[in-house]
Amino acid sequence: MVHGGFRVWSGSEPDFPRQAEQVRSLLGAPDNPALLPPQFVAAALTGIGGMLITRSRADALVDAAFALPTRDPSVILAVRHAANRPGATRLTLVARDRPGAPDGTLVDLPTDWKAQESVFATDSIAIGEPGSEHAKQARQLQGQIWQSPPDNLYPTWLYAPVCPASMSLVALHGDRVVGFLLGFQSQPDRDGTTVLESQVMGVDPDYRNRGIAVHLKHQQAIMAGMLGIDAIRWTADPLQAGSALLNFGRLGAFSRRFLPDYLPFRNELNRLPASRLRIEWTVAGEDPRTELSQHRLHLRESVVPGTTCPIANDGPMDLQITPGNPLIAIEIPSDWTALQQSDLATARAWRTNLDDLLLRCLGEGPDQYLITNAVIHRGRVFLLAEQATNNLLRLYS
Ligand SMILES: CC(C)(COP(=O)(O)OP(=O)(O)OC[C@H]1O[C@@H](n2cnc3c(N)ncnc32)[C@H](O)[C@@H]1OP(=O)(O)O)[C@@H](O)C(=O)NCCC(=O)NCCS
Repeated sequence: MVHGGFRVWSGSEPDFPRQAEQVRSLLGAPDNPALLPPQFVAAALTGIGGMLITRSRADALVDAAFALPTRDPSVILAVRHAANRPGATRLTLVARDRPGAPDGTLVDLPTDWKAQESVFATDSIAIGEPGSEHAKQARQLQGQIWQSPPDNLYPTWLYAPVCPASMSLVALHGDRVVGFLLGFQSQPDRDGTTVLESQVMGVDPDYRNRGIAVHLKHQQAIMAGMLGIDAIRWTADPLQAGSALLNFGRLGAFSRRFLPDYLPFRNELNRLPASRLRIEWTVAGEDPRTELSQHRLHLRESVVPGTTCPIANDGPMDLQITPGNPLIAIEIPSDWTALQQSDLATARAWRTNLDDLLLRCLGEGPDQYLITNAVIHRGRVFLLAEQATNNLLRLYS
């Protein structure tokens, strides 16, 4: 769409990812730390209602803005970058229906801000909104966990409280950032549901399995609730046991949608096509009084994979079990990251076959399933998929 001399790219153009990548390189990628990372631009930006706005003169790019939704659906945050001048990035709020308009006060990127008051999650770990020093550490921690180059890291300005497009939290041990969580405001759904798109969470390997991720997610849910956000969504690799046990087993989130080969990048955790489950979290699964919690508890207490419900795969092999079972268990590797490092051929077989299985099984149609839980049984990790009956859909609506 061309609008007032600007070109607006909303993502419906088939070669949007390539165009966006070209624009990023004209704006200084991979050496401009203020840019949104390529995996976010390619896979998430337009899905949450963001856009790319370019302005050219005589076929040469003059400047470009990545626009992000804000808490006000009629307003977007335009992150304006001047071509070939990586330091010249400024923020402005503009009307969503006039995305190229030059109005709005331009402000410099926030670089120095204080942390907000934190709440203590445990005796030694506090959770709170980061200061600018914490934001730098969170960016470094992202790089360490995923072994990603700087261009793939989220810019620090997204962690600033003045940024109306994002919501961030860090877990602190003293002044050391040992965990972080970053989400984006999404445009509301057609039915008006307001959504936070949770984009990335990481916990320092030295601090794992102490409940830090659960505390970060709960604090995120509290903040989202205070802002009137109805739902939190994110994507997760179906083969990562840790996140499956956290998302489905502990938090009570569910998935009804599978996105094969979703993310364009490769890194230590993603040596093979990065397929993802769409995760939805209404937080009600945590309240023990709700019908949903009762249902979840009963399922967890009664399930014995292979006895009370069939197992849909034999390791990486899809068993193509006959449809019609109310519940199926899908085994996933106990350590997907290690398997990709030690045996890439077996890892590839897992990815290919589980992609087929999940693509076939997940959804709301007849004989399709929602993933609603994850359990460890005799040292093996299973996703639990329940048939998408009207009653189940009501519980998760
Ligand atoms: C996934 C990750 C954020 C979890 O952080 P964490 O602080 O160790 O998680 P918690 O201690 O809060 O774990 C909470 C639950 O998750 C589950 N869990 C998390 N990691 C697990 C693992 N490696 N193995 C088994 N269970 C795991 C457990 O069920 C635990 O519940 P429990 O306390 O009832 O046993 C962390 O392992 C990490 O940073 N991984 C790499 C990055 C990543 O995959 N991020 C998520 C996608 S963006």
